[in-house]
Amino acid sequence: MKIAVIGSGHVGLVTGACFAELGNEVICVDHDKKKLRMFENGEIPFYEPGLDRLVHANLTEGRLSFSGDTNSAVSASKVIFICVGTPSLKTGEVDMSAIEKSACQIAKSLNNYKLIVEKSTVPVETGQWLLKTLEKKAPKGADFDVASNPEFLREGSAIHDFMHPDRIIIGVSSEKAASSLVHLYSSLNAPILITDIKSAELIKHASNSFLAMKISFINAIADICEKTGADILRVAKGMGLDERIGHDFLNAGIGYGGSCFPKDVSAFINIAKKLGCDFKLLEEVRGINEKRSIHFVKRVDKLLGGIKNKTIAIWGLSFKPDTDDIREAPAVYIIKELMKKKVKNIRAYDPKAMDNIKNIYPNISYCNSPYEAAKGAHAVLVLTEWKDFKHLDLLKIKSSLKKPIIADGRNLYDPGKMKRMGFQYIAVGRV
Ligand code: UDX
Repeated sequence: MKIAVIGSGHVGLVTGACFAELGNEVICVDHDKKKLRMFENGEIPFYEPGLDRLVHANLTEGRLSFSGDTNSAVSASKVIFICVGTPSLKTGEVDMSAIEKSACQIAKSLNNYKLIVEKSTVPVETGQWLLKTLEKKAPKGADFDVASNPEFLREGSAIHDFMHPDRIIIGVSSEKAASSLVHLYSSLNAPILITDIKSAELIKHASNSFLAMKISFINAIADICEKTGADILRVAKGMGLDERIGHDFLNAGIGYGGSCFPKDVSAFINIAKKLGCDFKLLEEVRGINEKRSIHFVKRVDKLLGGIKNKTIAIWGLSFKPDTDDIREAPAVYIIKELMKKKVKNIRAYDPKAMDNIKNIYPNISYCNSPYEAAKGAHAVLVLTEWKDFKHLDLLKIKSSLKKPIIADGRNLYDPGKMKRMGFQYIAVGRV
């Protein structure tokens, strides 16, 4: 099938490359000329494991191409996926400008039957707005359908998540639209739920908000563990044995970040408010998450007997492992707190994300290894659970630190082992 993907970011590029890999002819559109040149050379402007190989292979096979021209890509395709960004406005509402721009561009090119699919995360009822906008702006008698097909891709495992989804959600208002999308996904052997467009849009926001709620819940329990001496890992394990709760997303730490959870929770709070629904629960989820960084720095400050004028090493800057993405990463907020408390030096290391964070914090020291970051520091703060950090020579680290202090924001290490090695060690919800 001929597909156009509008917006070649983390979602659009994975979607386009995977649909090409499944045998479709895909044109990925982006307005950024510099990005297009990178794509044409098989280069990717962000780190996503395996994506460069997948793009390159499908480019070579001629199933995947890139273009800056929405109109020609839409005219040549049958299914158009809108994958543009829907970031947060300062108010927490969704910035729909890219969606609006795409809709107007798509409308101009509706030369024969097309299916226009919103894959970007959008507020409920966007589908009906999209339908009206296309009807208004499209050529007279244009034949098209609109659908919602939200993505559930996690950064760092996006290709796996696309090829092995837990479920495929298809929100449609016609049989024709349903059969096109069912056909497109048929080779994935995943459960397909066909529903109406509004329900499909809500499934996305509700799913992300629920996952964020699970994280804030376990983080609140971790605070109680720190006060009582219970162990959050054991509590989470005991909870997760109940199939209705499950083990996933019960890892306590310094909070959730990324380009999705923070913006989706804020968006959903705003959507509910606009509809006159009281979603204070989500405001509490956001509130708990926003306090994690301050709480963590306060504990480090206490452990060090005052953090002012100290040198702090930071391991991990990305919002999670296996990505270079620092959007809403806890590290961004923790560094801000450290600077507010007038630490003297910050020495940071991250396997992938340092170039991205340099634009925000140009004046901290960026190191080539966790060992270099630890040299002469009064403490190490572990902020992202990169696998690399699991296999370090910690005794070598200890001898290079001014003080043998590790504050583990992602419960990477075992408290007993760390104390036996002579570290002053704090974690999250563990003593
Ligand atoms: C998320 C959703 O998982 C995905 O389905 C959706 O399509 C996009 O948003 P992503 O943001 O890429 O994916 O990463 P995810 O693995 O969900 O982690 C999000 C944040 O939560 C990270 O900062 C991570 O460190 C944090 N997290 C995750 C926890 O703090 N504890 C957990 O148990 C799990």
